[in-house]
Amino acid sequence: TKSVTLPDLVEKYRRNEKVVAITAYDYITGTIANKAAVDFVLVGDSLAMVALGLPSTSTLTMDEMLHHCRAVSRAVDGPLIVGDLPYGSYEPSDEKAVESSLRMIREGGRVQAIKLEGGARMYSRVQSIVNNAEIPVLGHIGLTPQKMGHVGGFKTQGKSVEAVEKLLDDALALQDAGCFGLVIEAVPAAVAKFITEKLSIPTIGIGAGKHTSGQILVMPDMLGFYDKFTPKFVKKYSNCLDVCTDAVKTYAEEVVSEQFPSAEHSFNLSEKNMKAFEA
Ligand code: KIV
Ligand code: NA
Repeated sequence: TKSVTLPDLVEKYRRNEKVVAITAYDYITGTIANKAAVDFVLVGDSLAMVALGLPSTSTLTMDEMLHHCRAVSRAVDGPLIVGDLPYGSYEPSDEKAVESSLRMIREGGRVQAIKLEGGARMYSRVQSIVNNAEIPVLGHIGLTPQKMGHVGGFKTQGKSVEAVEKLLDDALALQDAGCFGLVIEAVPAAVAKFITEKLSIPTIGIGAGKHTSGQILVMPDMLGFYDKFTPKFVKKYSNCLDVCTDAVKTYAEEVVSEQFPSAEHSFNLSEKNMKAFEA
């Protein structure tokens, strides 16, 4: 497989082709993303909820993120891999942000870029990571699940004129600080379009309409694997939880009824040894 590089992504954006991204958390989801040949895979901290069953992303640690980044890396040799910096690993200081980003590259397998949440407040963090550690940074504005205190819950952002102005200021600040792209989450389609047109870096939308430079979805959400909560912006492309549950139920029934394992799934002794064995 030819690996996707950051310049490839930028080229795609310049040619006005949509950038396709999806999250992955382990070897299996990584394999799916790799076979589907998306442009980039985000090992998102959403894994706290959709892969670990935690109530929010706020308790996920750097060590846990790295463990998942390595698992995804073993499956993904095509798409670029972006690692999400967990809550608390970059907010306290520029030094901490650089240190965490370096760990992501050194200990995160094939991770080549990091993502962090927040707007203009993250200006010096992004600058430090890009310029001092020379690690590409993907920004993330709009609904930022690590920053519930600021955004006020899982709800649409950028609905007032002031909020749109703030979003644009944040987007321009992140671009100026050196982000190679921006995730824009849960904002009206017209707002994401407006911001996308003002920028010279790609926007990757999730719940942000069709006018962004690309799209990202959380894999267990779009596959229908996660049944706790599904945001309006998630399209379910499959019904994997039901499909897989049915498969396991059938297996259980066949074990009980002795339909499984049949001869096809059993090892057989040679006739000669069978005779000797029975004698
Ligand atoms: O953690 C995550 O999955 C994300 C995406 C929703 C962009 O941040
Ligand atoms: Na995230």
